[in-house]
Amino acid sequence: MEKLGLNEIRESFLEFFEAKEHLRLESFPLVPKNDKSLLLVNAGMQPLKPYFTGIQTPPNKRITNCQKCIRTGDIENVGKTSRHGTFFEMLGNFSFGDYFKKEIIPWAWEYITVVLNIPKENLYVTIYLEDDEAFNIWSNSTDIDKTRIFRLGKEDNFWEIGQGPCGPSSEIHFDRKVELGQIKTEDEFIQAGNEDRVIEFWNLVFTQFNKDEDGNYNKLAHPNIDTGMGLERIASIMQGTSSIFEVDTIKNILEEVSRVSGVKSGKSPTEDISLRIITDHVRSTTFMISDGVLPSNEGRGYVLRRLLRRAARHGRLLGIKNTFLSELCNTVIENSFIAYPELKEKESYIRKVIKIEEERFLETLDSGMDILKDYIEELKSNNNKVLSGDKAFKLYDTYGFPYEVTEEILSDAGIGIDLDGFNSEMNSQRERARAARGTSNYMGNGINVLDLIPKEIETKFDGYDKTELNSKVTLIIRGEELVKELSNGEKGIIITEVTPFYAEMGGQTSDNGEIFNNNFRATVYDCQKSASGKFVHFVKLVEGSLFTDEVVTLKVDVDKRSQICKNHTATHMLQEALRIVLGDHVHQSGSYVNDEKLRFDFTHFSALSEKEIIKIQKIVNDNIMKAYTVNTSVMSIETAKESGAIALFDEKYQKDVRVVSVGDFSKELCGGTHVKNSGEIGLFKILSEVGVAAGVRRIEAITGRTSVKYIDEKNDLIKEISTTLKCSEKDIISRLQVQLDELKDKEKEIILLTGKLASSSVNEMLDNIHEVKGVKVICGHVLDMSGDALRDLADKLRDKLGDGIVVIGSNVDGKVQLIAMASKSAMEKGIHCGKIIKEVAKIVGGGGGGRPDMAEAGGKYPEKLGNAIDNVCSIIERLVK
Ligand code: ALA
Repeated sequence: MEKLGLNEIRESFLEFFEAKEHLRLESFPLVPKNDKSLLLVNAGMQPLKPYFTGIQTPPNKRITNCQKCIRTGDIENVGKTSRHGTFFEMLGNFSFGDYFKKEIIPWAWEYITVVLNIPKENLYVTIYLEDDEAFNIWSNSTDIDKTRIFRLGKEDNFWEIGQGPCGPSSEIHFDRKVELGQIKTEDEFIQAGNEDRVIEFWNLVFTQFNKDEDGNYNKLAHPNIDTGMGLERIASIMQGTSSIFEVDTIKNILEEVSRVSGVKSGKSPTEDISLRIITDHVRSTTFMISDGVLPSNEGRGYVLRRLLRRAARHGRLLGIKNTFLSELCNTVIENSFIAYPELKEKESYIRKVIKIEEERFLETLDSGMDILKDYIEELKSNNNKVLSGDKAFKLYDTYGFPYEVTEEILSDAGIGIDLDGFNSEMNSQRERARAARGTSNYMGNGINVLDLIPKEIETKFDGYDKTELNSKVTLIIRGEELVKELSNGEKGIIITEVTPFYAEMGGQTSDNGEIFNNNFRATVYDCQKSASGKFVHFVKLVEGSLFTDEVVTLKVDVDKRSQICKNHTATHMLQEALRIVLGDHVHQSGSYVNDEKLRFDFTHFSALSEKEIIKIQKIVNDNIMKAYTVNTSVMSIETAKESGAIALFDEKYQKDVRVVSVGDFSKELCGGTHVKNSGEIGLFKILSEVGVAAGVRRIEAITGRTSVKYIDEKNDLIKEISTTLKCSEKDIISRLQVQLDELKDKEKEIILLTGKLASSSVNEMLDNIHEVKGVKVICGHVLDMSGDALRDLADKLRDKLGDGIVVIGSNVDGKVQLIAMASKSAMEKGIHCGKIIKEVAKIVGGGGGGRPDMAEAGGKYPEKLGNAIDNVCSIIERLVK
């Protein structure tokens, strides 16, 4: 057996199947395009699912590829064992209704025993219990010794993940300890697997069923082949290593981790775990970021954050003080870029994303660890084994500790977490966020009915240069039914052979318009492309009836189309301007263009300054005014990339791509509709710039008529201001300044006058001291005094009075406040402020009370305050016995 490198094995596998008429496809990005419920591609066949189910036609009936995959289900074992990893590459060959068992079994045997030259005494094969066909093919079409074939149950030899294509399988295993003698029985074989003596490395799935959402196995129209061979595993076998971390390319990374940390492997088991965790996680995260995933608190972004932060913490455990992960990604890239050139293209970007995330975590890691240590101490001293959910949530929310990181640290101390408590904290936070965001949803009307469309029906888009054409109606759908007719007032879906309507795609909204002939008229309010690639018009009939096979006129609303085109071309120009001003780390992470505005999301790590925004806007406008011709041409993806055309980050492109260029200013891969000349865009105006996620900013802008209207509205506003201020436009600012200064002077005056007013009423009160039952009484009211100021005043009056009681009221903001204060000797004479104020307050419609020496109250009727104060003396008279 030759010691082949991981990269060599990959190539040899793909070449082997190419020689058997397979089309070699590049790996699909890790972000699944065809399954919203799945976070990351987890098997080689996953991106090919539509070919298995028949929704899409594959480019070739035989395909081979090496697919990057992420599985985090076993993450807690990563590092602890020699064979778990979160990132792996899966070699595969696929047949879509072409060859089946009798071809793949001998081919697989040929590849491993002839090409890889693995000795037959190291090999075992398992098949599904009832699969006699597979047994016969293995025994008759290969030279495997029959006693090396074992039949296992559904658990081992029936392959499925969630819904979708599945079927019985046959697995090929390698025996690492032949010296122990041949394995004889199924039981012995299973035992050997548990002990890691035999390892499975190639799974041949005979895909015959499609499992639906209710768990039914529906027979597929034609059987398929789906095989998967773990590249790291076969490399480990070929290189005679006991661990995937000793495989050439992975070992290079581990050695780099060891160099950076100064920790040698093989010295301490716990340090080895950390070395392996960092090695694995830096691999998976480098690949995830290269496919456009960014750290966040949700979905795949959270998977990435978890991996990066777990790796960062293990770096700390190894004694690394500063950020280090971003340095390691270079080694990952060097070892893998041959098969994944996108890694090299995005090298500096990947480094930046890792560095920022690591820096962010390190800022809080130490304080979080201190808090966590305190929690652990506290739990231990109380003999408690579970950390409360709110504490785990605090670590998550305030210190950025992913739940799983906290869990891992606690598990070393034998402590668990109240997961329900954590989740309920998390849910209430999400609820709050959702309430703050509101809900929005502009997609999803009846998309599933589109699966009804027969595969044979062809639709063609011919709307780049046309906005009107005639074509034949091939299909009508009403509700969830294929029908022959649609009548006045009904809504439905129309499919024609050719259409000028652009379907919502690539962030560009759909065209609207009309479909009609002499018998009917329908408005098109949406146009979509189904999963199987058909263009469908969502319509409402407003006149007559329509039948299938009729020839109709399809007419796009050109005014709307032209606004959309302006916004779309401007989006390309914006991206270029952003790169010029901010740097080439700027990548599109989302965009949405309709006839009203454009929205562009891009990677950048801080808010834009006002100056930057102005500069970007100016660059776009300057280039609009250069009146560049906008050209589109179709070329190979390689030529496009070589010519510097910007491609979408996580997109997988066909061989031939459409390139849109605006003079020599911007060049981008794009399938959308555009203006013919940049001058048509008119005026480009940025409306806002905000952050939408960690490392992602969003710009909203307008063009054409909308921006002219915007300017007009601003102009009207300025006019209205100048009319209101009674000055010319150019004097607005100086007039406002004068008014502001005047206002300030007036405020000062008011303060002065209120003071004067208060003291004059104070003087008046002092001049009018009453006496009731031998107690001196001051009572009166003031304006606009409340709280402390009112208390101060009462205090002062009581001091001036010496012995006696003060009762004052104030009219503040349409309400009444009352206060009473009494001296000691007055209380001795039977005065109780609380009781007195209660009676006074009744008159002003309020209540209150308090101590004998001091009491406060409020009231609703300021107009009755005078009356209340006039009654103070008689109330005292009544209450003092
Ligand atoms: N789809 C099969 C697997 O992932 C080949 O094992």
